[in-house]
Amino acid sequence: MCGIVGYTGRRDAQPILLEGIARLEYRGYDSAGLATVNGKLYVRKAVGRIAELRSALNGQPLAGTSGICHTRWATHGNVTEANAHPHLSADGAIAVVHNGVIENYDALKRQLQAQGVNFNSQTDTEVIAHLIASFLKDDLVEAVRQALPSLKGTYGLAVVSPRFPNLIVGARLGSPLVVGLGEGENFLASDSSALGGYAKSVIYLEDNQMCVLTPERCEVLDADRTRLDAEIHALDWAPADNDLGAFAHYMLKEIYEQPEVIGRALAGRLDVAEATAHFEGLNLDANQLRQVDRLIMTACGTSYHAALIGEHLFEQFARMPVEVEYASEFRYRNPPLDKNTIVVGITQSGETADTLAAIRESKRKGQRTIGICNVAGSSIAREVDGDVYLHAGPEIGVASTKAFTAQLTVLTLLAVHFGRMRHLSYQAGARILDELQAMPDAVRETLKCHDQVARIAQKYHHASTMLYLGRQYLYPLALEGALKLKEISYIHAEGYPAAEMKHGPIALVDENTPSVFLVPHGSVYDKVMSNLEEIKARGGPIIAIACAEDKHVEAKADDIIHVPSVPEYLQPLVTAIPLQLLAYHIALLRGCDIDKPRNLAKSVTVE
Ligand code: AGP
Repeated sequence: MCGIVGYTGRRDAQPILLEGIARLEYRGYDSAGLATVNGKLYVRKAVGRIAELRSALNGQPLAGTSGICHTRWATHGNVTEANAHPHLSADGAIAVVHNGVIENYDALKRQLQAQGVNFNSQTDTEVIAHLIASFLKDDLVEAVRQALPSLKGTYGLAVVSPRFPNLIVGARLGSPLVVGLGEGENFLASDSSALGGYAKSVIYLEDNQMCVLTPERCEVLDADRTRLDAEIHALDWAPADNDLGAFAHYMLKEIYEQPEVIGRALAGRLDVAEATAHFEGLNLDANQLRQVDRLIMTACGTSYHAALIGEHLFEQFARMPVEVEYASEFRYRNPPLDKNTIVVGITQSGETADTLAAIRESKRKGQRTIGICNVAGSSIAREVDGDVYLHAGPEIGVASTKAFTAQLTVLTLLAVHFGRMRHLSYQAGARILDELQAMPDAVRETLKCHDQVARIAQKYHHASTMLYLGRQYLYPLALEGALKLKEISYIHAEGYPAAEMKHGPIALVDENTPSVFLVPHGSVYDKVMSNLEEIKARGGPIIAIACAEDKHVEAKADDIIHVPSVPEYLQPLVTAIPLQLLAYHIALLRGCDIDKPRNLAKSVTVE
């Protein structure tokens, strides 16, 4: 979603700001802009990619050793240059970039207009610039501080002014902001990945905190302007993390990383002697864990699909009731929760606004919370009572792939961990650990279906609707397969429990509507095969994903993709691979921008 980078130091600000903002490009945006301070404000904006902004700057770079930069994902107002950030106050004394949403912007705008202020954009952000200007006398920090209480909603913002050269003021409420500390220079960003290689260490701002940056100084202040002792974290950054290598797209690179990612999610967590798993950061001792009698898993998108599989895993191995809730719904409900219910937030980015709000709401009501998260230092990772990291490495492609399989791996281990304190036998625990350890190789083997999937994509990439059908452990995979296809190829796709078809969706089936059937062997194999026959009888083309040794389905399906035979609870891990590759190849053939699909953002930081 929107990105912020700020710099104040002795070097030219523009190249540093552009490099930083380019690192956040994968998050999704539709326009970009930059302001430097050099006696006065210099501003350049462009609609479209950062490449357009670079061309707008070509030959006419903006001088100055401090500045702010932004990528905008439109919420209020169309995608236009006027609506791109930074936004300026009427007198040109203030430039602001902002992530988040100002919910009362309309009322504030009318108030400011009544005082004679003219607006140049349709955005909610512009009110912030005018509001700060209305408080500005001879202290920018004070003007920002006085403006903040009027803003209802969420913000991560950065403010500069030529009247206060080399000064950047930042503020956070509900939208992440990170200060980067350097020598003789300081940085600000909405995500630490923009700062790698520049800042040596970082400070994560908390809600209701401000930061004041000059090249030599960094202060973190509370709402009363009291200076706080903020915790400084080392910034670990490996430049190779963003390297595409031989791959055409990050999504493909990340699909291929999955065997190693699963291995990393398992590493150091297996306790073979006790036939269980260990988690460093859970912050719950064995007694507390035994008292937990119910889990609520809350998440969005792909992470929600992982949670649905988690429900099956906990039911099977820990005999524990699990409810899975969309975070955007859960945060506004008021379900009865007793003290032995744990709320588990599952999130790749750790910044998804709804998941964060669901966690905060649960904490407010006294629930213990756990975060299953990929990004260390993210808001959710910092706010939960216990955390479990995915160790999947940065996921750049907007379509989540490796984070999903890492989530499934971690959820399986967690189910074993809880299960071994309850009903799960030593033998069963030991068997699961053995089977899990075989998964990196099984996924490596599955990746061999790549060429075959690419051929199948040729046949179906003109479809306008596709159905994804599975049962039990593979029903959430049907949802996930459909989501992958939708988000990167823009083909309408629906995932259903295979037997639900008869209750309505089967009306969609005709010779132009392919169905992807997930039929690896298992407890409901025969049932799924009957559902497959029902679609076939109505002329619907069938792509089956099945075990290599399954000759029966081969005779029924129009196309078949083989996956290795693994235990039923691990089938989601191998089945995910052809689904990801199918979406990838169909999108490729349709000429879609795979890593930056239209309208989407990598981390959704507005509700
Ligand atoms: C996945 O392909 C999506 N881009 C999206 O659904 C994503 O999973 C969702 O926004 C949740 O993100 P999170 O895991 O970072 O919280």
